[in-house]
Amino acid sequence: MRVFVPSETQPGERRAAISTDVIGKLKKLGLDVSVQSGATASTFTSDADLVAAGADIVAESDVQAALGSADVVASVRPLNGTAASSLKPGAVAMSFLQPQTDTELINAVAERGASAISFDLIPRISRAQSMDALTSQALVTGYRAGLVAADRLPRFFPLFMTAAGTIPPAKVLVLGAGVAGLQAIATAKRLGAKVSAYDVRPASADEVKSMGGTFVTLDLDAVEGSGGYAREMSQDRAKRQQELLTPYIADSDAVITTAAVPGRKAPLLVTEEMVRTMRPGSVVVDLASESGGNVEGSVAGEEVDIAGVTVWGGRDVASEMPVHASQLYAMNIAAVMGLLTEDGEVTLDVADEIVAGAAVVLNGEVRNAMAREALGLAPLVEPAATDSAEAAQNSEGTS
Ligand code: NAI
Repeated sequence: MRVFVPSETQPGERRAAISTDVIGKLKKLGLDVSVQSGATASTFTSDADLVAAGADIVAESDVQAALGSADVVASVRPLNGTAASSLKPGAVAMSFLQPQTDTELINAVAERGASAISFDLIPRISRAQSMDALTSQALVTGYRAGLVAADRLPRFFPLFMTAAGTIPPAKVLVLGAGVAGLQAIATAKRLGAKVSAYDVRPASADEVKSMGGTFVTLDLDAVEGSGGYAREMSQDRAKRQQELLTPYIADSDAVITTAAVPGRKAPLLVTEEMVRTMRPGSVVVDLASESGGNVEGSVAGEEVDIAGVTVWGGRDVASEMPVHASQLYAMNIAAVMGLLTEDGEVTLDVADEIVAGAAVVLNGEVRNAMAREALGLAPLVEPAATDSAEAAQNSEGTS
């Protein structure tokens, strides 16, 4: 069976779904690997490097044919509708994919009788950790956020004791202490800053401390949802949180925001008024800029000046470190392929909790409830993504 990796087509996307070390892992599973010519150029990997690692190279003129003959098509961003309409029945398309918004791809995959696996939906269970691309990419963005804050700040991060006098360390506040937030804490800490952090999940307090940060405790209820994620907070609580955070923001040289709630617009944590309480020259790094922004006035992909404070809005942040972002993502793909492949054959078994959770489309049937709603399809008779043989039965019955 063959895995094909086409070039990414979205402007600004510099990651690739394959790296040379992963080609060997896929071949060990009994899979052939082909890659579109130039697909890994932005990761400083040439076609010759890919060939040396065991892949075949597909010229641009042959991409349609490669899409039509591959058993698995792996990409970072979802394929466009045209590419998806070339998939062969039974093929598997694998990428990040939002079930509510990537409806063109979902429709096209379903019409072809193919399947779509989304890295946005891999369950957060220990068995799936090696497949968790949200985590691997959040690690990259969190690290990058720490570097950006240090780079944009016109002051030192570390304490300096010089003959002329002492310069205190920069104060960095991280809002949202999930995977990206913890990595931002670790990076800022390594650079010598004094770091504190806040999250609505009290469970994150110990993790913040283990990274060397101080956890900020506010006199507010926790907002913990399912699966270790946060849930959306009420407007009253959001307002109160903003009020209570204001003195911490005003006292910080750099604020890094990473807060997200799955399937929702990012929560607004820092208003423009709060930014204005910071000293001129301070920096705000908003990693949630693309999904609505944690900071009022932040613009994805731009640096905005608010009363002398630089507000940096993240856009395609993982693409700013394409080599390791791609290597980690390709490793996640190899781990999923390890789950799906037996004796060189790729099969999707929905009795497996990971497959049941991540398969948005299975052999032509849209299984994911959010995708069905977005497409105006009636819900499946039973919830599709369950951890049992029921899932297999349910996938048979649409209403
Ligand atoms: P995320 O990207 O969905 O959100 C980032 C952070 O923002 C979260 O910690 C969340 O609690 C926080 N947040 C949301 N609303 C907020 C608000 N209003 N104010 C302040 N903070 C707010 O989360 P991420 O990074 O994907 O991780 C979520 C959880 O999943 C964490 O507990 C993490 O440890 C856990 N996890 C578990 C894995 C596993 O078991 N395999 C793998 C990866 C993460």
